[in-house]
Amino acid sequence: MKGVIFVEFLEMVDNMLGMETTEEIIEKSNLPSGASYTTVGTYDDAEMIALVTQLHLKTKIEVPVLLKTFGKYLFNSFTVRYKDMLHHLKDSFEMLKRIDNYIHVEVQKIYPQAKLPVFQTEEISDKELKLIYTSERKMPDLAEGLMEATLEYFNEDYSISRTALKEDNSCVEFLIVRK
Ligand code: HEM
Repeated sequence: MKGVIFVEFLEMVDNMLGMETTEEIIEKSNLPSGASYTTVGTYDDAEMIALVTQLHLKTKIEVPVLLKTFGKYLFNSFTVRYKDMLHHLKDSFEMLKRIDNYIHVEVQKIYPQAKLPVFQTEEISDKELKLIYTSERKMPDLAEGLMEATLEYFNEDYSISRTALKEDNSCVEFLIVRK
């Protein structure tokens, strides 16, 4: 996983709980990298799992809730870091429909080693969008947080429901309904 994701994760923990907690979860995670992450570096996914697990043990907040919260935080950081990618997108559905054929394409140019998820989309109506998330990383909670933040970024009211298409969460269908 790219270093930018780790940098943002540790920043979120700093902001939420203070630097001492960040140091504590880093120490308890026994990270091969020593947590000296750079945005362009690539690190083992297991390091992210270790950090999230330690954050869960520290806060008692369930891992899916932590990942969703992180997804929202991450999106807001992306809107600052990569604002040029976003300014011409008119609404959430346009953005979500263009993750695979535009946003993550640009991401791959910046970070050639990025391993990105696949999103198949189907616009059922101007109020309903179906998204099928596929990734061996099995992080639909992170995806849901990113989706929620996308809808909030465009000031839209929404509800999101989801169905696992594979038991291990490597393939999950989301239905977004805009109000
Ligand atoms: C400006 C917008 C965005 C940028 C710059 C961006 C960038 C990235 C980057 C750098 C990664 C890490 C890849 C790696 O470590 O190998 C990533 C992963 C991911 N992105 Fe995006 N992304 C954006 C928007 C979105 C949106 C709107 C979604 C909504 C569903 C999304 C879903 C994901 C997921 C779920 C992952 C985690 C990897 C996985 O599950 O396989 N991204 N993205």
